[in-house]
Amino acid sequence: MPEIKGGIALVGSGSATPSQRLTNDQLGLRVETSDEWIRTRTGISERCVCGAGENLVGLGSSAARSALEMAGWDSCTLDLVILATSTPDDLFGSAPQIQAQIGASKAVAFDLTAACSGFLFAMVTAAQYLRTGSVRRALVIGADQLTRWVDWDDRTSCVLFGDGAGAIAMEAQEEGGDGLIGFKLKSDGSRGECLNLPQFQNSLPLVDEKTHQKGGFSTIQMNGPEVYKFAVREVPAILEELLNSTNIASETLDWLLLHQANQRILDAVADRFDIPHNKVLSNLSKYGNTSAATIPLMFDEAVRDGRIQQGHLIASSGFGAGLSWGAALFRWQGPL
Ligand code: UT7
Repeated sequence: MPEIKGGIALVGSGSATPSQRLTNDQLGLRVETSDEWIRTRTGISERCVCGAGENLVGLGSSAARSALEMAGWDSCTLDLVILATSTPDDLFGSAPQIQAQIGASKAVAFDLTAACSGFLFAMVTAAQYLRTGSVRRALVIGADQLTRWVDWDDRTSCVLFGDGAGAIAMEAQEEGGDGLIGFKLKSDGSRGECLNLPQFQNSLPLVDEKTHQKGGFSTIQMNGPEVYKFAVREVPAILEELLNSTNIASETLDWLLLHQANQRILDAVADRFDIPHNKVLSNLSKYGNTSAATIPLMFDEAVRDGRIQQGHLIASSGFGAGLSWGAALFRWQGPL
């Protein structure tokens, strides 16, 4: 296998959201909350929710197609599709369905689950394939339909989540710099109960004295204040580790692109690094927390409206259930 000497180029992005929008005031018709509480405690004004006929494969495929179009790639030139999701349409995996829908006939496609950190975990995984030379073109998709698993009567969690998808096209390049400058990924299962989506404990008779468990999931279980504390402690720490290990000063960053969970978390991380708030990308007011989709959804919006430009340096961090968290430093190349 040829070893790639250059690195990785980020050459295309895309995103998709469902057509239904649910405002804070509309949520107030279902649970005891208010637009004012949600906006001041989270920064969220509305979110998109999949309605009849919409699903994860549809969202992921649509984001994938627009990333391919920006990159100028024919789908049959793709070697690898990784779908970061915790909410597949099919528990056996939804990536192959996306691969089929976009016509990426020669690509291998699989799901990767790391909740809200999933997109960064998938991007780093794709990078390993690209660096060994075993694949040349990879599409990393982050997509989630968490609204399937929200308890719509629990006001402490239902106000946060929405559905969406984003994708980034990554290519191995022999010459030029490396678009993925560094990364750090972490997990801590001992704190997993702060945020999880567990199976029902449902034991049924099988034959004789034997039993079997019937599959089925509960709804999202979250200790909001604990997750908040985890995020404001671990995200700055991992970003600091990454900046130190790559010798990058925070002043040289063009953008801070964090998992869009809560505006207060974004602001706290920016303050810790003295990063001006106008360098912190945020669109959670429109979409809420779309889990694995937040980072590529925000990235694509900022590329398309011209905020992120060719050569810009971006520090990104994802965090969430697992617990899992990670950070990556990357440079936008744009279409080659
Ligand atoms: O991808 C990671 C996903 N998870 C997260 O990012 C969650 C991180 N955590 C958070 O964002 C925040 O903890 C929340 C937004 C979930 C909650 O904000 P908070 O400032 O930590 O509020 P709290 O849970 O401490 O609750 C404060 C009060 C409570 O009332 P009392 O006990 O003070 O009377 C809650 O019952 O706010 C009440 N409350 C609400 N009131 C109106 C909780 N949810 C709501 C609501 N509307 N939706």
